[in-house]
Amino acid sequence: MSTNTIDKPKKVTTATVRKMKAEGQKIAMLTAYDYTTARLVDAGGVDMILVGDSATNVMAGNETTLPMTLEEMIYHTRCVVRGVERAMVIADMPFGSYQVSAEQGVANAIRLMKESGAQGVKMEGGREICDTIRRITAAGIPVCGHLGLTPQSVNQFGGYGVRAKEDAEAKRLLEDARALEEAGCFAMVLEKIPAALAEQVAKSVTIPVIGIGAGAGVDGQVLVVTDMLGMNDGFRPKFLRLYSDLAPVITSAIGNYCADVRAGSFPSAAEQY
Ligand code: KIV
Repeated sequence: MSTNTIDKPKKVTTATVRKMKAEGQKIAMLTAYDYTTARLVDAGGVDMILVGDSATNVMAGNETTLPMTLEEMIYHTRCVVRGVERAMVIADMPFGSYQVSAEQGVANAIRLMKESGAQGVKMEGGREICDTIRRITAAGIPVCGHLGLTPQSVNQFGGYGVRAKEDAEAKRLLEDARALEEAGCFAMVLEKIPAALAEQVAKSVTIPVIGIGAGAGVDGQVLVVTDMLGMNDGFRPKFLRLYSDLAPVITSAIGNYCADVRAGSFPSAAEQY
């Protein structure tokens, strides 16, 4: 006879992903922002789920991630956590929640963990946030770093182009990656940087390096779930592989529903009480 406890898959933790890197196993990560999608993503077998601040683009239609609030992150993360059994759930610290002071960063990271049930937080930046990362990890909260194209700095960058193509920025990024590891990050995301540099970073640190638009030489990959499912019609960057093309499927299903309602063929006799 089986019990619930026996049937439950073993939860992925910081120890699991550290071991995966040590053993050369690639880590599969996707974003999710709601309960229903999180259940499907977890059932698909990803190791990690990122409740990214991209939720404010995908779910709320904002152009940048800057408007995302801590309350909204807590809400989305709580919804995701309820739908997940196995994957490790990481929540983004939104813009403005950790930049003012280390004290503010620690207080907000604690709140995000306590009120959402996430297993860790992600923060964008290098050396300039290492003191805050040290304080947050000292409070027992796993931190995932994020370097390269850090969307919370889009106004400073002047767009979403590939970062660290020049030697000086590449050198800074490599130093920042080492600083993040030294500050206690358990993993880091590298976004939209040259593949050779990303591979060099992955080889220079002992923590898992997860790439998005950073080539194959890293320890794992992350994509925005609605992008890889083809739900975001106009968004086709070079790094994106489409694993489905759901936008036309959904639009066509809704078109068929509208036609049936208008024709009076839905509901049928079998579909009523
Ligand atoms: O917010 C997000 O979805 C992210 C990923 C793109 C890494 O930070």
